[in-house]
Amino acid sequence: PTGLLSDRLARPLHDLRISVTDRCNFRCVYCMPKAVFNNDYQYLPHTSLLSFEEITRIAKLFIAHGVEKIRLTGGEPLLRKNIEKLIGMLAELKTVSGKPLDLTLTTNASLLARKAQSLKDAGLQRVTVSLDALDNTIFQRMNDVDFAVGDVLKGIDAAHQVGLGPIKINMVVKGGMNDQEIVPMARHFRGSPYILRFIEYMDVGASNGWKMDEVIPSAEVIRRISAEMPLEPVAANYTGETAARWRYTDGSGEVGVISSVSQAFCSDCTRARLSTEGKLYTCLFATSGHDLRALLREGRSDAEISTALAHLWRAREDRYSELRTSQTEALRRSANKVEMSYIGG
Ligand code: GTP
Ligand code: 5AD
Ligand code: SF4
Ligand code: SF4
Repeated sequence: PTGLLSDRLARPLHDLRISVTDRCNFRCVYCMPKAVFNNDYQYLPHTSLLSFEEITRIAKLFIAHGVEKIRLTGGEPLLRKNIEKLIGMLAELKTVSGKPLDLTLTTNASLLARKAQSLKDAGLQRVTVSLDALDNTIFQRMNDVDFAVGDVLKGIDAAHQVGLGPIKINMVVKGGMNDQEIVPMARHFRGSPYILRFIEYMDVGASNGWKMDEVIPSAEVIRRISAEMPLEPVAANYTGETAARWRYTDGSGEVGVISSVSQAFCSDCTRARLSTEGKLYTCLFATSGHDLRALLREGRSDAEISTALAHLWRAREDRYSELRTSQTEALRRSANKVEMSYIGG
């Protein structure tokens, strides 16, 4: 059963998100802006990264504590060399409840057309693709590396063809940059096998220059889509789901909205995050993590590491998004908040 471990706010540990690289070939303005992630930026050296064996060992200990979903993130996870090998190793792990492990990955799809079949063969179940616009000019302004929208769409189709579904498409909405694409994106994916989700632009990290007036609240997203294609709310698939679901009243599918700014969902947050260099973060907005790599490389036993994980989860009381008010202005600006590309989305 899940709920083997509970934190101070009675939240179980259910998912583990593992960042496998801090690098990306995109420079999305809300995530890795070029002004910061330029030629001088120091990425982690190879020796700092957890090896596949180290990742798998930690994942196994987390699974023993009740984790049932593992998401690989980055940066761009498909840039990590031989990622299929890691997927193969993780795919063999068994959950305590006997349910199959939900093994998934978040990608910008730039390498997906090429890798879909090998990812599927390695044991990956599904993928989630980030796509911020359908209009090529707007998309290129968002990714800032001139990557073409058509190539992302080809990657999505390739993943669908090989059975890496259900595929979700995540669109971060940044007011004044791509919000005019909300309705065209909804129109495009309505009636397709893909579930489109709109994400409120968050004040994660310290480099994106986040401003509240660039956030389009999900209620506004739903209002704009509903004006043309009526929507009604649907119950969540599971407790702790980040997205609130809405379906088209004519039966042509559903969309989701992830409202971490306008309607925080910390009260059911069951997610632990493992950074590229093996630090454990109990919140996306944490300013520091716990060094699991040190435990591994000091030669600690599984039992010792497992106990350490249990202690960390039981002590957890993070709920940053819920506390995000005028009082936390200083915290929001604090320069040491970790970047999304390092901790994983
Ligand atoms: P599914 O299992 O497919 O439902 O995925 P998910 O709900 O775990 O969502 P996904 O990993 O696709 O996350 C989508 C986006 O939601 C992320 O890129 C973040 O922007 C945001 N998000 C996910 N988890 C958290 C979280 O714990 N806190 C906050 N504030 N935002 C989150
Ligand atoms: N706000 C919201 N989501 C973000 N992501 C990265 N930066 C942000 C941000 N500032 C998420 C998006 C993207 C994934 C890789 O990370 O969901 O699709
Ligand atoms: Fe790369 Fe994803 Fe960040 Fe864009 S949002 S820069 S694709 S990690
Ligand atoms: Fe979880 Fe922190 Fe996000 Fe709240 S802000 S949902 S506690 S990761």
